Amino acid sequence: MPVQVLHVTGARPNFPKAAPVVRALRDRGIDQRLIHTGQHYDERMSDVFFRQLGLPEPDVNLGVGSGSHAAQTAAIMTGLEALLLEERPRLLVVYGDVNSTLAAALVAAKLEIPIAHVEAGLRSFNRAMPEEINRLVTDRLSDLLFATSPDAVAHLASEGVAADRIHFVGNPMIDTLLANLEQFDVAGIRAAVRLPESYLVATLHRPANVDDPGDAAELAKAVHAAAEDLPVVIPIHPRGRASLAAAGMFDHPQVRAVDPLGYIEFLSLVRGAAAVITDSGGVQEETTILGIPCLTLRPDTERPVTITHGTNELVERSELATAIRAALGRPRPAETVTPPLWDGRAGERIARVITSAL
Ligand code: UD1
Ligand code: UDP
Repeated sequence: MPVQVLHVTGARPNFPKAAPVVRALRDRGIDQRLIHTGQHYDERMSDVFFRQLGLPEPDVNLGVGSGSHAAQTAAIMTGLEALLLEERPRLLVVYGDVNSTLAAALVAAKLEIPIAHVEAGLRSFNRAMPEEINRLVTDRLSDLLFATSPDAVAHLASEGVAADRIHFVGNPMIDTLLANLEQFDVAGIRAAVRLPESYLVATLHRPANVDDPGDAAELAKAVHAAAEDLPVVIPIHPRGRASLAAAGMFDHPQVRAVDPLGYIEFLSLVRGAAAVITDSGGVQEETTILGIPCLTLRPDTERPVTITHGTNELVERSELATAIRAALGRPRPAETVTPPLWDGRAGERIARVITSAL
């Protein structure tokens, strides 16, 4: 008997999105397997999430590791093709917009295995971002498209996706956040990282910010200006570690790098922060729900709902310090207006649709 559902994950942002879907399908008795492509492989970029989020050990890890876009995508495709020819699942589920997502969709489509895409329809309209290419192709090939926000539904509709394939289900990343809220320990992480009561958190890993030495130097200047007011702690993604160090980012006495944090530790740190500086997708969403001001160092976002219904602001590097001061000067609203259906039940909704599709 072929397995009913095969999930493909591979990079850090996949794991908090997959956890609630896997759990909800397990509760419905669906036969499923979890594949890890090995795109991310450091303990702190991968294993810690499986432990903390209650994800089952991957049934298979393809161990592809790092490489150029073509090399990494090809390695995932080759490994998955062999596996899918053997397994022939009734449905393949992919998450988000990373190379593992795209590679899995391409392989499954050619083997005529139906594809479900969790977090479909997000668009930055910026094709200089590899994630935008990954989203466009994955959505084009998918049979079930699970959208996290109304704008995503509208993008899919305008691209000609039939309405009966689009399901507005809410945001599984927020399921994971809400399920773990009680575990976030602000005082504990503040003591562990030796931070005062008021501090900023920064996460920076986009190629457009960290790859080029000139961009990295500008970024360091912007973060140093913000650090004149409050200390900044940066759980540093491996991609930017060397370039940001070379740009002098950590030479400022108020700017500190720490290793990438586990999910619980990271969200504890964010929950206690005065504000967050980021170029991450997930962090824009998490700060929206936690009500923490979020300054996003990007020209655009595929998650506009975090601006209209959240705390997110797009800022230029040169405006960062001023924008933080302005955000901290504004009173925090007594209640956050959250995006529709970001209520902790997206996994259940996705499982319901998948179960009836099988
Ligand atoms: C990938 C995703 C990006 C996502 C990010 C989340 C693509 C195209 N990009 O970017 O959308 O926002 O993950 O974290 O899929 N490295 C390590 N250890 C690891 C993993 C990576 O040291 O466990 C280093 C390697 O030097 C590697 C570099 O990080 O070359 C980049 O890794 P890669 O997976 O290619 O892209 P990310 O920048 O992590
Ligand atoms: N995250 C974490 N530890 C860290 C940084 C991030 O646990 O040190 C979590 C956080 O929940 C975030 C998710 O990893 O939303 C994915 O973040 P990342 O920035 O890597 O990916 P993106 O969302 O930009 O694709």
